[in-house]
Amino acid sequence: MHTAYFNYQGQAIRFRTLGQGKPILLIHGFGEDGAIFEPLGEFLGTQHTVCIPDLPGSGHSHLLPVTTMESMAEICLALMDQQAPGKPWVVIGHSMGGYIALALADQAPNRVAGLALFHSSAYADSEEKKANRQKSIDFIQNHGGGEFLKTMIPGLFAPDFRDANPHQVEHQTQLALALPDTSLIAYYEAMAARPDRTHVLRNATWPVLFIVGGQDQAVPAAAALEQAALPDKASVCLMEEVGHLGMIEAPETSFPAIESWLQHWSLV
Ligand code: MLT
Repeated sequence: MHTAYFNYQGQAIRFRTLGQGKPILLIHGFGEDGAIFEPLGEFLGTQHTVCIPDLPGSGHSHLLPVTTMESMAEICLALMDQQAPGKPWVVIGHSMGGYIALALADQAPNRVAGLALFHSSAYADSEEKKANRQKSIDFIQNHGGGEFLKTMIPGLFAPDFRDANPHQVEHQTQLALALPDTSLIAYYEAMAARPDRTHVLRNATWPVLFIVGGQDQAVPAAAALEQAALPDKASVCLMEEVGHLGMIEAPETSFPAIESWLQHWSLV
């Protein structure tokens, strides 16, 4: 996988690229960086061009002065323009990365060839979720992001996977600990402020794939599944035993499901 930097308004944004073929953008979620999508990138990179940014404030990319789903979508669009100008892209977003993918599709629907929401949702935060985010921000400010992530990251895995794979849970937690508190807080504020984007799904002219974990505590399966009724060209990959991290918990199911979806809709 090739790693490079992209200059966005004077700030360095790191991204990985691999492969040849139609372009696919993989947008990671909260508490992660692009590394989480490297195995999926390797899998898809045999037939596609894969591009995996570190979002601003994650991995090796600088946090920008303004963090919103829209500003991060603009960076993704600028990267897409640089890497494959004028071409429509398949955009795959994990959780917060899916919120960004939806903002991107809202801003530039013609740049999208297909959208995959990987444990993600077009709904805005409920009032209860917004209040919980504020509690988390207060906790991070008082105790530090490390203490927060040590509880939060293991909770993303399905209990059975967590018990059977302590090293993978620990590895993912250690990666998350590299994230600065400023980024964690900026992302939580931005996610709480994001609008409902169900209209993007309702108006989608391209295929939409919903990858859903039956044990997901962050994006409940019921909420994701009801949204699958919105687009004309919807597909669902439901993994009953999986939590919020299907790319780690069940690559043997989630990766071929993405490949089959790409083939089915001729997105290859
Ligand atoms: C994520 O994985 O990106 C977050 O859990 C999403 C969220 O908090 O809504």
